[in-house]
This record gives sequence, structure tokens and C-alpha cells, in this order.
Amino acid sequence: MTVQTPTSKTAGGEIAHWLHDQTHKSLLRFLTCGSVDDGKSTLIGRLLYDSQLILDDQLASLKNESRNRAVGEEGIDFSLLVDGLAAEREQGITIDVAYRFFTTDKRKFIVADTPGHEQYTRNMATGASNSDLALVLIDARKGVLTQTRRHSFILSLIGVRHVVVVINKIDLVDHNEAVFDKIENDYRAFAEPLGFDTLQAIPISALRGDNILKPSDNTPWYKGPQLLPYLEEIDVSEDREMANMRFPVQWVNRPNLDFRGFSGTLASGVVRVGDDVLVASSRKPAKIKSIVTMDGELREAVAGQAVTVTLDREVDISRGDILSHPGETPEYSNQFQARVIWMHEEAAYTGRSYLLKIGTQLVPATITTIKHKTDVNTLEKVPGHELHLNEVGTVTIATDKPIAFDSYGTNRLTGGFILIHRVSNATLGAGVIDFGLRRGHNLTYQDFDVNRQVRAERKGQEAQILWFTGLSGSGKSTIANLVEKRLTAEGKHAYILDGDNVRHGLNKDLGFTEQSRIENIRRVAEVARLMADAGLIVLVSFISPFKNERRMAREIAADIRFTEIFVDTPIEICEARDPKGLYRRARQGEIKNFTGIDSPFERPELADMTLDGGKESAVELANEVYDHLFHL
Ligand code: ADX
Repeated sequence: MTVQTPTSKTAGGEIAHWLHDQTHKSLLRFLTCGSVDDGKSTLIGRLLYDSQLILDDQLASLKNESRNRAVGEEGIDFSLLVDGLAAEREQGITIDVAYRFFTTDKRKFIVADTPGHEQYTRNMATGASNSDLALVLIDARKGVLTQTRRHSFILSLIGVRHVVVVINKIDLVDHNEAVFDKIENDYRAFAEPLGFDTLQAIPISALRGDNILKPSDNTPWYKGPQLLPYLEEIDVSEDREMANMRFPVQWVNRPNLDFRGFSGTLASGVVRVGDDVLVASSRKPAKIKSIVTMDGELREAVAGQAVTVTLDREVDISRGDILSHPGETPEYSNQFQARVIWMHEEAAYTGRSYLLKIGTQLVPATITTIKHKTDVNTLEKVPGHELHLNEVGTVTIATDKPIAFDSYGTNRLTGGFILIHRVSNATLGAGVIDFGLRRGHNLTYQDFDVNRQVRAERKGQEAQILWFTGLSGSGKSTIANLVEKRLTAEGKHAYILDGDNVRHGLNKDLGFTEQSRIENIRRVAEVARLMADAGLIVLVSFISPFKNERRMAREIAADIRFTEIFVDTPIEICEARDPKGLYRRARQGEIKNFTGIDSPFERPELADMTLDGGKESAVELANEVYDHLFHL
């Protein structure tokens, strides 16, 4: 079945055209959320049907397909309508949220539909981030559930101000007023501290159509509005144009030497030709010389418009920078407090490096502390060192370089961000900024006259880091030892940092949880950098099981030559060797979190060298390393 509804997958042009025809009507963007099986698909299908968006031939085929299914008096299973679209959408795998459009005489609507992985909050949060209103669906038979509370909490976090509590399947509880009242009261009690601007509860049956378009005879006790009329009337205007002007630069537009413009979409406020502006990063002033669009020049632009501005003088601005009016500039810092919703099975750890995307800016960032988590059922603060799937935490985040931002409360567009996995590019979490923090200490780098080059030259070598990674017993330390011996014999100056040894001293406070291993690697990477800075050839022999931290080690090394050497020895061989008897103890359950047994080892895909520790001897492998690096 195909339905002629423009979805986000169809060409943008079609949507634009459709929207253009409808411009005289106001637009309401909303999303549906709630828990699984509460009838979301049926409700959306019902809205599409009742707004008469379904064509006759589709109706016929729908009726046909609806046989043997739960249907209302129209003889249609409305969820088919939506699920048909979902199947279609499945082909475009990357689309997490589908937007459906429908219109009535009074208003046009965009519904963010987030079917599929209901257990994930990611889709829901994406949908919420550009919605004005949310329908929180509750199954009348089940009442307020954890998922209902979690979603409501996320709505408040993301800044959705208007909520309709849609108490569905009211027919299945005999249209009982008491059931409705109890759910409404439960929900209000929970949502009170979340501070939504409006909250309306409506008893409906999406399947049968009760209280969708007109008052239902089945609920004579209900005196409130019906769903569709309510959605047509509600005022959700939030004056983005009144907010402080923010122009995040998307790209620097330089078609020829005479023209240098800055392109982007005005996030908030109004900008006019002649305005004084400040560049957030440098705080350099300039005046707006012109505002250019595809359809010619403008005197002013308002929030939401995509424009290119030119300035009256040359100033340094790069992608991600923000232009604002002086006196109302955004914050500019490399540290802030935020609330983060974690959306991935791989937990969030402090100290791990992620990519942070805020508006048009993309920077490496780490969660420095998890101040507390929030229990979504009770809204209580609970302690925690990690954020797991669907958990919400109040955290501090440090970015590798300063970024421009606002608190989410003052600006949703410049105050919201996502965290991205550095290797897989998956979205891991979403967050809202509470406020900027100044770095606790005012540190600068001290430059010394004797630098790394000088120190290394005196030793007749190039300072560098050889990073050996591999399972316990893979042969890392044996090989590193042989390489060091040869280097020393040649008059070079080297040093081995070995996991077992460093864990006896500097890192003796660390165990083997993911969190501890991340910190273990961070510290040794810093030490390796310092030693290389002293002019040494540093051989690091640590299991270093995670891709993220191996990458971090490379980044910490910065311009120091860094060679990642994967000692690829099959676990069966490591286990057979078992030099320290640790595998045996791990198998007996005496040692927990043992790498390769009950703690993962993420194989490097792009190591600079891979050594086949199962086939060749340590001597052969050490020579391979030596020849590769030192006999060029
Ligand atoms: S890492 O994972 O954090 O990089 P590291 O290289 O410092 O590990 O330490 C690994 C050494 O600690 C192993 O060679 C082994 O001798 C010892 N060890 C003790 N417990 C464990 C464990 N649970 N997992 C791995 N190694 C362990």
C-alpha cells in the first residue's frame, strides 16, 4: 500500500510546495509519545483519516487489509495506515523520525512520528526538539507508566511547553469517568514540578473515534475539548523573534575575491543592515553591510530565515561562530553544566572523549563529572558514576576548545547539543546547557627554550611513542622489551611504560572497570607524552582495550610521532600461555572483568602495525617493529 502523504523521505521540494500552498494557515508541530502499544499508530492514522487525507482507493485497500483486525465502525485498522508508511520508511535506514503532514480548515500540522525502537528515547528526543506540543498517550487500562514519566521528563528537558495527555482506549474501560480522573490526577501530580505551560487531558478511543472530532456520547461526563479542535485552537507561539539575536555561521561563502559572506540560518532575533555585531569567539566588532538571499537583498532578517550576511570589515570568523548584538552576547567557554539524556547501550563514562555538536559547531568533549542522576519516576536526585541507556544526569562537560552557546532556557537552538561516538558516529546522548562554567584554574602553557626537538637531537634520535595494544599474555611486554634492548644497544634512549608496573605506582588506585581503564589509559598517555617531550622513545605496553581511549592517546600525543602496534594473538593462545595464571583464575570466577573473558577487547581496525602473535616468535616480531620504525 502506498499513501500519498509527503514524508520526510520524499523530496524536500514536494514538502516545500505543499507548505507553500498552505501558508495562510498557522502551523502546529507536535509529537506523540508514551509507552509501547498505547495506540500511537492508530491515533496518527485516525488523525490522518479524520482530516480526510486518505484517498478513496487507499480506503478500499485499507478496508481490505483490515479484515481480521480490531477495527472501529469505519471497518479500518488505522494503524495500518501508519505502519504502511513505516515499512516504506524502513528502506531509508537512517531516518529516525518521520514527519507526517496533515491539514484541516484551520491549521496545518506536522507530526513527528517516532515508531520502531520504542525502547529508545533517542527518536523521541529528536522529535521533541522541534515540536511545540506533545501528545502523551496513556492506555486507560494501564495508567501512568515509567515510560510515560520518562518521556514527560524529556519533554520538559527539551523545552516542549504544551502537553495533551491523551487517555486512549477509554472504550476498553467502559468509558469510566473514575478511571479517567485517576489517570489525570496521577499525571498532574507527577508533572507538576515539570512546569508545562498547558496540560489538557482528553479521554479518547483512537480506534472508535471518541472525542477526536466531536464530543462522544459515550463520555457524557467529559466536558473538555475534543482532540482535533483542541489542536486547531491552542496557541503555542513562542516569540523566537523577540529573543536575543543569534546568527550561527554555517559556512563562509567566498565565491570570488570581492565577496566574503557568512551563511546560516538566523536562530533567533532580528538582524538589520547597519547593526553593530560581535563575533563570539574573538569578541571583534563589525557592522552588518548587507543581508543577501536567493531572492535579493534584505533590510532585515528574522529568526528562521536562511541568509548570507556581509560585514563592513575583514574579521576572522569560521564555521560555528556566532554573531550577536553587543551587550547580549552568548557565553563563550570550554566548560558548562548540562543535563544529558543517554540514549545508547554503551554507557557514558567520565573522561571518555566524545564529539559534541551544538548548532553548527562540532568539537571533541568529555563529561568531566556526573553530579547526579535523576530518577525519572520520582524526579529525585540519585548518585551515579555512569549514565546508562535512558538515564538522565546532571553533568559538567569540558570541550577541547571554547564554544559559543546559551543556556537552553534562554535559547533552545544555541543551548541544546548532542554527543556523538568518535568512531561509529552514532548519537549517544542529547543534552541541554544549564550554564557556562569558567575553567576553575587559569592556566597557560609555559614555553621553555630547550624543547623536545633539542632534547631528542642531543640523544641522536626522534622522540616518539610506540603504543602496544593487545590481550593480556599476547606478548606486548616481551616484544617491547626486545625492541628496547635493541634500541639501547644502538645507543638510543628508550623507556617502557608497562601496565602491570604503572599499576603498582601511579595508577595503584585504579581497578579494571571500564571507568578505571579509561582513566588508566588517560594517565599513561599523558605520561608517554611527557616522556617523549623529554626526548625519549617511549614504548607503552598496556592492554588498552577501547578504541576511544587509543584514539585519545594518539590525540594527547598531538604532533609527536605515534605508532599503534596491535599484538594480535588469539585468545586461545594467550590463555594457553597464561604466564601469570590469571586466565585460569578468571575462568574460575576469581577475577572479574577480565579482558577477553568478561570484559571486551575492541580490536583495532586501523592500527599502524599488526603483529601476528599467534604465528611468529617474539624475536621475529620485535625485529619487524624495529625495522619498520628505525631502519628506514
Ligand atoms: S588496561 O586494560 O587498563 O589497559 P593494563 O594493561 O593497565 O590494562 O593492565 C593489564 C594487566 O593487569 C594484565 O596484564 C594483567 O596482568 C593484570 N590484570 C589484573 N586483572 C585484570 C583484568 N581484570 N583484566 C585484564 N588484566 C588484568
